[in-house]
Amino acid sequence: MAEPLVVTMDGPAGVGKSTLARMTAQALGIAYLDTGAMFRATALALGEGAWDLSGAELEARLPGIVFGLTGVGDCSTLLCNGAAVGDEVRTEEVGRWASLLAVRPEVRARQLQVQRSLGLGTSLVAEGRDMGTVVFPAARRKFFLDASPRVRALRRVRQLEAMGQAADAAAIEQAIRERDRLDRERPVAPLVPAPDAVIVDTSELTLHQVFERIMDAVRSS
Ligand code: DC
Repeated sequence: MAEPLVVTMDGPAGVGKSTLARMTAQALGIAYLDTGAMFRATALALGEGAWDLSGAELEARLPGIVFGLTGVGDCSTLLCNGAAVGDEVRTEEVGRWASLLAVRPEVRARQLQVQRSLGLGTSLVAEGRDMGTVVFPAARRKFFLDASPRVRALRRVRQLEAMGQAADAAAIEQAIRERDRLDRERPVAPLVPAPDAVIVDTSELTLHQVFERIMDAVRSS
C-alpha cells in the first residue's frame, strides 16, 4: 500500500489555516484534522479555569475526552465524545481558554498521542501550531502561514460577523497579540516554523493565491 500522504499547516491564530487546510484536503481527497478544534473542545469539556488544575487532575480527566475523525475533504468531521465538534468551540473566549490550557505539558502530551493515533496509516492535512515541528515531523510537505496581527484581526472580524457574532476589531487585535505571545513563548511545542517548512506570508495575498502556492508545493513534493 502507498505511504499515507501527510501535509502539515501551522501558523498563528486567524491566518486562514483552517480554510486553506480544508481546501487542500478537499483537493487531495484526504482527511482534514483541525487540532486547534481539539484544544478548543478539550477546553470546553474541562471548563473555565481548568488550566489551573494540578497535573495529576489533568491526567485523570483528559482520557475521558475521546476524539475521532471521520470522512475526507469537506466532509471531514472531528468527533469529541461521539458528537461532531462545531461552532460552539469557535468563540474568542474558548480560544483563549484553549491557549491557556495548551501551555500545560500534560495537555500537550495527551494531544500529541491522540493526534498521532488519529493520523496513523491515514493521509491527512493536519492543521495547528506544532504539526510540522512535533506531531508529524516526517510529513511530506510542511507549510507555515503567517500574516500581521492587524490583517488577521480584520479577517477574524469578518468571520465573526458572518457567524452573526459581535466583533470589536481593536479588542480582537489585542487578543490575537496576546494569543501569539502565549503560543510563541510557551516552553513546550512553541509556535515556530519547522526548518523544512514552506513559509507563506499571506498578508498581501488572496485566499486563492495562497491556495495555488500550497498546491504547487504539494504537487512538486
Ligand atoms: O487554531 P485555533 O485558534 O483554533 O487554536 C486554539 C488554541 O489551541 C491556540 O491558541 C493554541 C492551541 N493550539 C496548540 O497549542 N497547538 C495546536 N496544534 C493547535 C492549537
